Amino acid sequence: MPYHEPTIIARRELGALCQLTLRAPELARAARPGQYVLARCAPPGSADPLLRRAAFLAGADLAAGTVDLLLDPSERGLIWLADQRVGTWLDLFGPLGTPFVLDRRTRNLLLAGAGPALPALIFLARVAAADGVAAVLLAAASGPDRLPPPFLLPSDAEYQSSAVGPAALADLLGAPAPGRSLFASPIAWADQICLALTADLVTPAADAVRAGRMRWGRGFAQAALAGPTPCGVGTCQSCLIDTRTGLRTRCKDGPVFDLRDLQ
Ligand code: FES
Repeated sequence: MPYHEPTIIARRELGALCQLTLRAPELARAARPGQYVLARCAPPGSADPLLRRAAFLAGADLAAGTVDLLLDPSERGLIWLADQRVGTWLDLFGPLGTPFVLDRRTRNLLLAGAGPALPALIFLARVAAADGVAAVLLAAASGPDRLPPPFLLPSDAEYQSSAVGPAALADLLGAPAPGRSLFASPIAWADQICLALTADLVTPAADAVRAGRMRWGRGFAQAALAGPTPCGVGTCQSCLIDTRTGLRTRCKDGPVFDLRDLQ
């Protein structure tokens, strides 16, 4: 089983967010953008909170044998995790779930997201940059201190953000509006779109893609879907979502789905 006990080797507070860099060579080798780990968020000897918390991987450095987490400590488990100091070892399970799949022909990659899966797009931007793919990241959050800082992205990635709330993601994507040209949408520019969403953002994001693209096939738009994942292995059935292909577990069949299957 993919259990790891990495040590925190760096910790940075980035506004309300916290970046942890962990020494975890095996995890770094296995990790792919879109995957997550389940972290035990209680001190040794305590089982409170009992359930592990999901954290999307924000990067992996094979040469250094490290992985990055970018946490928004908005509930008590993640608050505990983000509060841990350099030198502390963590108890992680992962990497879990299905990753994004980049088409080899993709040259223009649009990344757009809000919420707990957003770190997966930073990881993907880094992987894409290493392959010479031009990436644009659109990010929305409930405040400027909850947006990933631009320096986490590769230097040639473009970044636009909105701090008025996650729902602003549809505007960033160029949702239909009176007087707006179809070709003003970043979706018209993209060869592929990878999204980080919560359940309430799926429909607005899909509407924006539909409005910006006359035709789109399987694989063009993929979405990492965030939400509670108590077991992470498809056992407890508490993360079932309705898709075009039937009920699927978000934790194991996802978290990355083809956007068309979520509509
Ligand atoms: S979290 Fe248990 S089945 Fe998905």
